[in-house]
Amino acid sequence: MSIRYLSEYKLFKIDTVNTTYILSITDTEGFIGHVYYGKLISDDDVNYLLRTSYNKWLPSQLPSERNNFMDMFPFEFAGSNTGDFRESSIEIEDINGNRSVNFTYDRYEIIKEGFNRNHEDLMPSLYNKSETLVIFASDKVLGLNLKLYYSIFDKEDAIVRRSELINNSSTSIYLTKLLSMNLDIDNDDYDMITLHGNWGRERKIERYKINPGKHLVSSIRGRSSHQENPFTAIVQKNADQTKGDAYGFNLVYSGNFMSQVEVTQFGDLRFCMGINPKNFKFLLETNETFSSPEAVLVYSPNGIGGMSRVFHNLYRNHLIAPNFAYSKRPLLINNWEATYFDFDDEKIISIAKKAKEIGLDMLVLDDGWFGTRSDPNTSLGDWFVNESKLKGGLTSLVAKINEIDLDFGLWFEPEMVSPVSMLNSMHPDWAIKISDREPCLARNQMVLDLSNPEVREYIFDSIATILRSCNIKYIKWDMNRQLTDLSSSFLPKERMGELSHRYVLGVYEIQGKLLKEFPYLFIENCSSGGARFDPAMLYFSPQIWTSDDTEAIERLSIQEGTAICYPLSSISCHIAASPNHVVRRETPMNTRARVASFGVLGCELDITQLSSDDINLLKAELEDYNSISDLILKGDYYRISSFNENNTHDSWMIVSKDKREAVFTFVQVVARHNNREFRIRLNGLDPNCLYRIESELFSESMTLHGNVLMNAGIIIPYAGKDYVAYQFKIKAV
Ligand code: GLA
Repeated sequence: MSIRYLSEYKLFKIDTVNTTYILSITDTEGFIGHVYYGKLISDDDVNYLLRTSYNKWLPSQLPSERNNFMDMFPFEFAGSNTGDFRESSIEIEDINGNRSVNFTYDRYEIIKEGFNRNHEDLMPSLYNKSETLVIFASDKVLGLNLKLYYSIFDKEDAIVRRSELINNSSTSIYLTKLLSMNLDIDNDDYDMITLHGNWGRERKIERYKINPGKHLVSSIRGRSSHQENPFTAIVQKNADQTKGDAYGFNLVYSGNFMSQVEVTQFGDLRFCMGINPKNFKFLLETNETFSSPEAVLVYSPNGIGGMSRVFHNLYRNHLIAPNFAYSKRPLLINNWEATYFDFDDEKIISIAKKAKEIGLDMLVLDDGWFGTRSDPNTSLGDWFVNESKLKGGLTSLVAKINEIDLDFGLWFEPEMVSPVSMLNSMHPDWAIKISDREPCLARNQMVLDLSNPEVREYIFDSIATILRSCNIKYIKWDMNRQLTDLSSSFLPKERMGELSHRYVLGVYEIQGKLLKEFPYLFIENCSSGGARFDPAMLYFSPQIWTSDDTEAIERLSIQEGTAICYPLSSISCHIAASPNHVVRRETPMNTRARVASFGVLGCELDITQLSSDDINLLKAELEDYNSISDLILKGDYYRISSFNENNTHDSWMIVSKDKREAVFTFVQVVARHNNREFRIRLNGLDPNCLYRIESELFSESMTLHGNVLMNAGIIIPYAGKDYVAYQFKIKAV
């Protein structure tokens, strides 16, 4: 792994273990161009890659055709209004109302990095990078400086990019767009993969051919959103789980984003990613700097599966807090789908006692414990306990739960205020809204103005006071509505366009401050289910609530989509009631448990009402989960088949790094009249190793070599009914 400047070619070569990224500077004028991103290549022939054909078009050679050059050169970071009509990476408005901006190269630095995980940084970022290349560039007319950052890691095949704009001119400017990156590459008849969805159906994998024109994935909802995820992959047409080129991009940001693939008039491809310029207008005074969030770039020649595993390792080793990344997660029970708002201390304690009996570790008290809240209409912002529900208050409840030998976790929705709340009557100006305009309510609540430091302080103090007063190990941080009516009574009008971004920075500041004072605190982020499943949230919280749709069959494609870039150890999955509350489907306990064993398993049903048969089954499934939880935290994920694609069955594997142990799960979703048995080829095993395979399907265990399991496959008898799940435990003999 190295970053080097090859001065004879004016070229920067960034090598990770198996990939190479090259950018170069033109001979004259200092345009910064993209040269190559793909499989590792040697230094010897890099000059061969340089596109000398551009040279004759350089404005210094052919000033009369400057526009042609600007509109075809593969820029590393595209300016605007200076001849490049493709998507720009930066846009500004200067003091005279002009909007032209373009950067040329000045110098570079290569920095050796260290651990550097600091909650006081405004923006979450990957830690323990090994080296960073900084390209310094400037717009000489405007006096603006640009820094482009490229970071690599010791062992991961990933590059992290970001950008920074510094206003070194003597006047202020408006920054109206600053993306994290763009990448100009040749088109290879690629497909595009995105994660699309809505509430209860997050991150469904969509794959489509990239036709000429622009293909935009974005959010302007104030959160990364259910509808689109800040993830995009560009893959060869023939790429599948095991082969083909796959480029993956993921933005470390939780607010409005854009990610776009554009096929240009010449058939080239420009990809770009960063904060959405919509609802974004930042005033940059002299000497002020604006930094973009980080964008993660992964290239794998080993298909979509290869790409996913690089993301998973990267996030476990360099994003999720090291004290949690590989440590055992609490097996928790959450009371939401068990009780909704209808509970008191006795009910919670009865659930806790049963939870202890079946082997759970923690009880999480969800919405409805504070203010006068008995439905979604009141009390958000009033973070003091409702003693008519919880007699003796939280301290007493937590002590009782601890006596049962369970840890305690608590739900908050800190960014919100209910119109009917003490907080709103005391501070009506703290909500994001436009005076004179009827606020657009959602779930009867409004969003607090986190650009205001007083508001951030109130939120931090409210949570910290509770955490200081009782033994709370975990909080579920929820965020249940989108941002509308963007206006702040705190920001001056010339800074109103900064609200959406300052809001996101506010969330990061409060979560960072909490982790600083309570370093043991386990935060699970959540947003109406999974509307904030993004890498920035993973920086603060080792796992994220995946979806409010807790139904096992629905969860198959939600979890498959989420795992395309997020590690299984971050995907929170609960066993819920049958019939399920969201879709009313009935599924057996085993199937629910095995689907929830895809990621971090928990329970979310009224276990005090289960039959003794179901309790026994649940207990056995939890024991089973404990026996594979280490694999889930530390192992490699292989997608074997996809219900999303075949409409019949779903299966996946998790294999330990040393390939001595694995678990394979198969779900027959739909029983078809003419189905025979399935023959499923496994993946990720050592071909020469002899494995023992155990499953409830076999009366005796089988021993087979890895190459047989992977080439000939494993035979799974036709179940004859829907919604059946089997688990296979595989161990080297
Ligand atoms: C959101 C969350 C749920 C639950 C409810 C409580 O919808 O996703 O898990 O916490 O809020 O109101």
